[in-house]
Amino acid sequence: MDCTCVVGLQWGDEAKGKIVDLLTADHHIVVRYNGGANAGHTIVKNGKTYKLSLLPTGILSSHMQAVIGNGVVVNPVRFLEEVTNLRAADIAVSGENLVLSSHAHLIFPYHVEEERLAEFGSPQAIGTTGRGIGPCYQDKLSRTNGIRVGELLYPDHLRDRLRYIVPRKNTLLRALSPEAETFDADALCAEYLGYAEQMKPHIADTFQLLHKALKSGKRLLFEAAQGSLLDIDHGTFPYVTSSSSSTTGIWSGSGVPAKNLTRIIGIIKAYTSRVGRGPFPTELDDGPTGLGETIRRIGREYGTVTGRPRRCGWLDLVAVRYSATLAGADEVTVMLLDVLSALDELKICTAYELDGQRIDYFPGDAFLLERCKPVYETLPGWRCDISSVRKPSDLPAAARRYVERIAELVQLPVSIVSVGPDREQTIMMK
Ligand code: GDP
Ligand code: IMO
Ligand code: MG
Repeated sequence: MDCTCVVGLQWGDEAKGKIVDLLTADHHIVVRYNGGANAGHTIVKNGKTYKLSLLPTGILSSHMQAVIGNGVVVNPVRFLEEVTNLRAADIAVSGENLVLSSHAHLIFPYHVEEERLAEFGSPQAIGTTGRGIGPCYQDKLSRTNGIRVGELLYPDHLRDRLRYIVPRKNTLLRALSPEAETFDADALCAEYLGYAEQMKPHIADTFQLLHKALKSGKRLLFEAAQGSLLDIDHGTFPYVTSSSSSTTGIWSGSGVPAKNLTRIIGIIKAYTSRVGRGPFPTELDDGPTGLGETIRRIGREYGTVTGRPRRCGWLDLVAVRYSATLAGADEVTVMLLDVLSALDELKICTAYELDGQRIDYFPGDAFLLERCKPVYETLPGWRCDISSVRKPSDLPAAARRYVERIAELVQLPVSIVSVGPDREQTIMMK
């Protein structure tokens, strides 16, 4: 019963991938339980940079078994592309070390088209990654339109399902736009049966696999995608993703009950970033010479999946306190602290003002959060390079104070501070 979860406490891109990579030595199995190829996890390992979207980053460690749980939505093209890229980078991938749940749902091209039509030019657009994630989860919940990975292994059954679903999808797509791309059920079936042939060695009942592993004393590492503030139920709805991206998704997305979790590590950046639309009270939207752009440039804040510039702003600890409570975090890690080294002073949001009232809680609705003005506490910057610091005592006093203040305000210990993308650029605080 030794399970760890690495979960983002902001709006994604907190550098979860780096922490997962650091933890692999202590675990046997890494499990993705939510999202799909909307995630973008970058890991710098032995001088090489790896970018993974759909596959768990833990697969980069040769002793780890990587599991894609039932809560994930899988585009076979992306799955096979990532497998090919890993092999090209000399990472061994087989049916043994990469296992895909037969109950995960499949993304089809009509999902991507549906999302494109819903998002394009819409004043209510979410600013999604365009990977078909939302429409696929919609079809899962609709039940009649959802197709699971395991169904790929039964050609006649798959053909029947697609012959029922695709005409309904075409009707919907044409209603959304007369120029919509439409699809042929038999052609799609043939295409997906081709993928099935290549994916077959990986497809398994991951519920059985994970529970057998737990019984035999194996240690599991859950790798969340996205961040808790993008959680479908608890995030800044409607500007969220379509899955349970906090620890809330582990039980349903893998079949492993939450009581098995012994360590929940909440990941935060030393500041805040967000891609796509939605409220962001501490955003520094201050033009091409402003602090927001400075943070974006130094932190290389451009989306891994879409290349979009990430919106950047001050650390919002009202939001983090909320998401740490939601996730049940035992500790937090402060990532990308080095990015703030150029700034004279730093601000931390400790409360909001909502319609003239000071509040210290996070409103769970986008339309209310939009009206919140941040209340800041200002701390001095340290104005020196910290990227080669490896011990807490070697951090400049102002950087130590900044980290300590985070711990005080979130009321959780800070276990790790990261001062660069490399594995070595890590300070163990305990
Ligand atoms: P994830 O989606 O949460 O795994 O995060 P991303 O990979 O999307 O974004 C984090 C980015 O920050 C990646 O490019 C990492 O290589 C990089 N990174 C991780 N830790 C640090 C750090 O401490 N300092 C700096 N400067 N970059 C970091
Ligand atoms: P990682 O795992 C940051 C955002 C999108 C959009 C919203 C909905 O790298 O932290 P979707 O395509 O999921 O329907 O888009 O969610 N989003 C992310 N933002 N990091 C991610 O993943 C994200 N995955 C989705 O930008 O605002
Ligand atoms: Mg990312």
